[in-house]
Amino acid sequence: MVDWRIYDFEEVITEDGSPTLRDLRSSNLETMHHRGGAASETLYIYGNALQWGLQRQLRQVWSVGLGCGYNELLVADLSLKNSSWSPKLLSFEVREVLIQQFQKAILGNPEPFYQRVAESLKVNSRAFEELLKMESRGDRGVNGDFLQFPRNGACEILLFDAFSVKTDERLWSPEFLSELFSKGMSEKSLVATYACTGNLKRALKSSGFQLIPKSGFQGRRESTFAVRGLSFSS
Ligand SMILES: C[S@@+](CC[C@H](N)C(=O)[O-])C[C@H]1O[C@@H](n2cnc3c(N)ncnc32)[C@H](O)[C@@H]1O
Repeated sequence: MVDWRIYDFEEVITEDGSPTLRDLRSSNLETMHHRGGAASETLYIYGNALQWGLQRQLRQVWSVGLGCGYNELLVADLSLKNSSWSPKLLSFEVREVLIQQFQKAILGNPEPFYQRVAESLKVNSRAFEELLKMESRGDRGVNGDFLQFPRNGACEILLFDAFSVKTDERLWSPEFLSELFSKGMSEKSLVATYACTGNLKRALKSSGFQLIPKSGFQGRRESTFAVRGLSFSS
C-alpha cells in the first residue's frame, strides 16, 4: 500500500466517506477537496458541467490538476455511459508521484486508495480500463505545470481544480487567467471550478464568457460555471 507520508501527502477521509489527500508541502497544508465530501463535491462542481458539455458535443477536456483522479474517472464513466461522446482528456499535474500512482491504477494495478476513489464516485468498474483505452487511441495525456498550458485554443471543457489562490496565486492572477481564456480555450467552451474569485469573474467576463449563477458546494457561497459561444438555455 502506498505510504503517502513519504511523498508529503496525508490521506483524509471526507464526510461522505470518500478519500482525498492533504498536501503537506503546501504553505497552508491544503486538502484537495472540501471536507464535506470529495466525491460529492466532484459530482456537484464538475459532473454537472461535464454533462452539460457532452450534451453539446464538447470533447476536449482539460483537468487541472490530476490530484486523486476523481475528474479523470468521471470523464471515463461519462464516456462509457454516452456512446456518442468520445472525449479527449488532457490532465495537468506537477507532483510526479500522483501521475505515477494513477498510471499504475489505469494499467490494472490500482492501490486500494484509487479503488476507494472509484467506489466513492460510483463509476463503472471499467472506468480505469476506459482511460487506458483512451490513452492508447491518443485521447488521453498528462502534462506537467499548467502554467505551460498549450496555447492552441483547443480546450472546450476546463475543469479548473487547482489549489486555491492562497496556495498558488500564479494560476489565479488576472494576467494568467486572461491568457488562458484567450489562448487556451476554444471559442465554444465552458469553465467549471469550485472557486469564485473576483479576478476569475472579471477575466471570464472580459474574455466573453457568460457567468451562470451557481452556489458553492456545502456552505460555500458561490462556485463558477461559465460558458462562451454557446447559449446556456439551449
Ligand atoms: C485540488 S487538487 C486537484 C484534485 C483533483 N482534481 C481530483 O479530482 O482529485 C490540485 C492539484 O493540482 C496540482 N497542481 C498544483 N500546482 C499545479 C500546476 N501549476 N500545474 C498543474 N497541477 C498543479 C496539485 O499537485 C494537486 O494535485
